[in-house]
Amino acid sequence: MQQKEIRFSYTVYPDKGVLSENDQFLIEQALYASTKAYAPYSKFKVGAAIRTEDGQIALGSNQENGAFPIGQCAERVALYELVHEQGRKPIDTIAVLVNYENQKTPASPCGSCRQILNEFRSFQQKPIRLLLTLASGGEVYEINDVKDLLPFAFDGSFLGF
Ligand code: THU
Repeated sequence: MQQKEIRFSYTVYPDKGVLSENDQFLIEQALYASTKAYAPYSKFKVGAAIRTEDGQIALGSNQENGAFPIGQCAERVALYELVHEQGRKPIDTIAVLVNYENQKTPASPCGSCRQILNEFRSFQQKPIRLLLTLASGGEVYEINDVKDLLPFAFDGSFLGF
């Protein structure tokens, strides 16, 4: 018998002001993206801003639907925007910002988004860093690699990739 363990740690910054200018800019872009959200049902507006390794930005926001399950999360909209505008280039960091006053702590990507983020992560074979925060400011959670959010993931390697 063998006991195995997967550990995960993340960093909590008290405020975005302690981050690099590039990271602060990315969070501001996520805030701007959140203003494009279509969230009449949940009112939970989310903005995502992707910074690629070569310093370009792609934005997305959540787009809901009266048929609830087919709404799209901000992360996925931003990822597909990136692919269509710039190609499938390596991603450095993604800022995800919740713009909903009842939410008091940063939110993290849903299970489906984790699976899709992990697909991009596997493809680029380099970490994708996440910064999670709120429109109202306050703490920023830094996750060094989206892979950490989906331990034991199913990915293309099971299919021979
Ligand atoms: N949502 C996102 O866009 N990203 C997340 O990380 C969490 C949830 C959206 C989906 C839905 O439109 C609303 O937030 C409430 O779940």
